[in-house]
Amino acid sequence: MTDKTLRVAIIGAGRIGRVHAQAIASHPRAQLVLVSDPFGTAAEDLAAAHGARAVKDAADVFADPEVDAVIIGSPTPLHAEQVLAAARAGKAVLCEKPVASSVAEARELESELAGFEHKPVMVGFQRRYDPSIKKARDLVAAGEIGRVEQMTIQSRDPAAPPASYIASSGGIFKDCTIHDFDQARFFMGDIAEVTAFGQNNIPQLAETGDFDGAVVVLRSVDGAVASITNNRHCAAGYDQRMEVHGEDGSLFVDNLRPTSVTVNKKDFSAAQDPYLDYFLERYADAYRDELTSFIDAINDGGEVSPTVADGIEALVLAEAAEESARSGRPVRVS
Ligand SMILES: NC(=O)c1ccc[n+]([C@@H]2O[C@H](COP(=O)([O-])OP(=O)(O)OC[C@H]3O[C@@H](n4cnc5c(N)ncnc54)[C@H](O)[C@@H]3O)[C@@H](O)[C@H]2O)c1
Repeated sequence: MTDKTLRVAIIGAGRIGRVHAQAIASHPRAQLVLVSDPFGTAAEDLAAAHGARAVKDAADVFADPEVDAVIIGSPTPLHAEQVLAAARAGKAVLCEKPVASSVAEARELESELAGFEHKPVMVGFQRRYDPSIKKARDLVAAGEIGRVEQMTIQSRDPAAPPASYIASSGGIFKDCTIHDFDQARFFMGDIAEVTAFGQNNIPQLAETGDFDGAVVVLRSVDGAVASITNNRHCAAGYDQRMEVHGEDGSLFVDNLRPTSVTVNKKDFSAAQDPYLDYFLERYADAYRDELTSFIDAINDGGEVSPTVADGIEALVLAEAAEESARSGRPVRVS
């Protein structure tokens, strides 16, 4: 590990851009130097809050010699071209999920990247760096619960994003479930079959043509089975839970709350505080540890994780889930 400070640019000053700016601000080995966003004053506002410069055009980020690394938090349809442009310009890249809009586009990106020497390119599946999920994975890898037989992932958002965001998101499987696909692969390895059900529970989102709820069943190559439950709204808040069941025991990751106080009375017992609110709070440690891992890989020449190949595998599962939900049939994946 070296102490060199990584000079970072953020492309896209929206929700996730602001989350990454916060992770950089709290990191002793990273400095936000540039923010790019073509609309309104988003770039200027985020840059000003962090003592960075602002530009409208992402091309000015790629050309800037003071930028070592680029975090891409622009809308999904722009990811593949911006990853390639940044890598071609000699920048290390942390690209938000999904790495591209489709499997075909992601494979094209992978093959372009294979054609030249470039700095590390990492994909933003931050859950792999969440301390609880990471510890559970370490215990599985150490054989603590034996062979994994079953897994349950619950992932529900407190409220749906605007229809305009959903329109360019690639749909629920590429936008939301993609995190759960990567999480399932993290614990169960490669997946052989996908069965998915889509729901429309939120009338205001009907015009998007996308599902706003989903239940997906995955069967791994090794025979383990995972069930994933997603919803774009959840009255109780940001609901993020996981169970891994193995032959020698089970692991649970529960929702996190600001405190662990419970109120217990004669006819009632319950936790006092609501769940940590949405991804900024729930995964704050994960975004920071993700950044640490990215910086270490750049400074020390190590491997990044997750890779573009992991991003492609998650997209394969997302497209299989879409096909299954639309056709009503299980879909085999190779
Ligand atoms: N890992 C996570 O937890 C997580 C959470 C949220 C979003 N995301 C991903 O991040 C991406 C952005 O999502 P968001 O919720 O922040 O969306 P958002 O709409 O809040 O922000 C996107 C920003 O990109 C800007 N933009 C548009 N065109 C641009 C361009 N050419 N160059 C630079 N910026 C441009 C927009 O003006 C907007 O400010 C999506 O791909 C989404 O899947 C990941």
